[in-house]
Amino acid sequence: MSKKVAVYRKESFNAAHRLFNPAWDEETNNRVFGKCALPNYHGHNYDLVVKVVGEPDPETGYVMDMKLLSELIQAEVVERFDHRNLNLDTAEFSNLNPTAENIAVVVYDILRPHIPAGLEMQVRLYETARNFVDYPA
Ligand code: NI
Repeated sequence: MSKKVAVYRKESFNAAHRLFNPAWDEETNNRVFGKCALPNYHGHNYDLVVKVVGEPDPETGYVMDMKLLSELIQAEVVERFDHRNLNLDTAEFSNLNPTAENIAVVVYDILRPHIPAGLEMQVRLYETARNFVDYPA
């Protein structure tokens, strides 16, 4: 019987974005994205929860050291995106619409190589208290 445990670390960052498909005209963008397409951008206080799943190490009792996980998220994600305009200031979203969905996928891909291969990982991103996404689903 597996003794897998899920551990979670929450960090946060603030960033601006605009949801926009450059292949569409303004009317279509406005219809699909509403206020999120306004040209002068808007901000969110993003909450990022990283879930790591595995069996506790017999020596430490930890699935993963939460301090190391926190430092990893800070160094790789928060430093990169905090107080940035995601569309204008980041390579990741220069050609990718910075929806919560796409941000979660990007964050997962950034962090996954840094998490031990034997551990499962999932990213939950809150764009608002009521809107949040999980990747992988
Ligand atoms: Ni938004």
